[in-house]
Amino acid sequence: MSKDTLTVTDNRTGAQYELTVENGAIRAADLARIKTSDDAPGLLSYDPAFLNTAACKSAITFIDGDQGILRYRGYPIDQLAEKSSFLEVAYLIVKGELPAASHLRAFVHNITHHTIVHENIKKFIDGFHYDAHPMGILVGTVGALSTFYPEAKQINDPESRKIQTHRLIAKMPTLAAFAYRHSIGMPYAYPDNDLSYTGNFLNMMFKKTELKYKPNPVLERALDVLFILHADHEQNCSTSAMRTVGSSQADPYSAVAAATAALYGPLHGGANEGVVRMLTQIGDRSKIPAYIKRVKDGEVRLTGFGHRVYKNYDPRAKFIKRIADEVFEVTGRSPLLDIALELERIALDDEYFVSRKLYPNVDFYSGIIYQAMGFPLDMFPVLFAIGRTPGWLAQWAEMLTDPERRILRPRQIYVGHDVRDYAPVSERRDDNPI
Ligand code: CMC
Repeated sequence: MSKDTLTVTDNRTGAQYELTVENGAIRAADLARIKTSDDAPGLLSYDPAFLNTAACKSAITFIDGDQGILRYRGYPIDQLAEKSSFLEVAYLIVKGELPAASHLRAFVHNITHHTIVHENIKKFIDGFHYDAHPMGILVGTVGALSTFYPEAKQINDPESRKIQTHRLIAKMPTLAAFAYRHSIGMPYAYPDNDLSYTGNFLNMMFKKTELKYKPNPVLERALDVLFILHADHEQNCSTSAMRTVGSSQADPYSAVAAATAALYGPLHGGANEGVVRMLTQIGDRSKIPAYIKRVKDGEVRLTGFGHRVYKNYDPRAKFIKRIADEVFEVTGRSPLLDIALELERIALDDEYFVSRKLYPNVDFYSGIIYQAMGFPLDMFPVLFAIGRTPGWLAQWAEMLTDPERRILRPRQIYVGHDVRDYAPVSERRDDNPI
């Protein structure tokens, strides 16, 4: 008869242990029972970069990387991208269910009326250097919001969590757009409550002297869908940063600043920017084989390819390819698209990429679309941060309400010196590095 347990024999001692298997996992803490003697340390599991360690239980996002499946709260990503709006998806992710019509109206109203930021925030954005990267400004300003809302420290109060969640979803586009306007020396454009979430973001980004900004409906919808596609992705690097910082009971603004900082890196949210730089550097389809050779020689990575979880086509990338066509109808076709399509065709036919299961990820095409829409490269990771904010907040709230919640604190395997005595400076060797 089968049992949901794992029997482990410790060959050092011959002892046997029965470990419970639950949801396809053993508890790493159970390994601590495995010892060579009563006073010896228990067995640890060693998993740098968390390749095979579940750090939490979550009911938000399901990914099957082999099949290329992504679902938020059970709903397939393609249905949401096709039929829903970003704020409806944000509601779904944060609250767990799709909203009834009246709840959606109230949610949209709440978010819309929280988009304005305190005037003092403009002053410290002004303090950034003229060429400051907007992602750096976003990390600083979203963290600084915690000082404007000291009650956000009440992380165990559901009402406080709800208000901070509304504020953060609402204010991220405002901070993002202000960071951009500062970097190009334009006056800040204030939120327009008549526009949709995404339409208003475009307004704050691109409004010039016109009295009322009218977003192009195709571009507005395309960006809304891109936000949907980025809204959550289970335990990725930035979400893990959000949970880690949140587990120390820091307020959500500080935790979102940490998550945004994690997203800034070129292996995570910075990859969309990297793709456009790479395609621009390649410059011509004829240069693709030489570039692929450099990738295979280990000189460079093919940015926008590969994923820790997807070992199949990223379902978001599939959808983004479709959006690209709609956007290019309005903006004109980007010359980088042809290079990207050819690069994809060659890579998907090449043993190096096939054997490593490297497929285009969400960033391979999103950057080209953002560029065609008029966003400068520096803004790409910022757009990712706006889309990912509901996911970070849902994961943060889930962590705080988890009965197993404790401060996150991994163990280590110490490989340094054994104990040694302090020597006076006059007796030390001078061949150590300065
Ligand atoms: N180009 C060339 N080789 C690659 C690439 C790539 N983009 N990605 C992975 N590989 C190779 C890697 O060299 C290794 O080969 P080998 O076994 O011979 O040493 C093998 O594939 C496995 O790679 P890995 O580094 O162990 O994979 P990982 O799961 O640690 O890294 C990744 C995942 C996304 C960081 C990586 O694929 C990568 O650097 N991709 C390029 C950057 C990128 O597009 N990032 C955006 C990810 S999607 C958005 C997001 O969620 O953040």
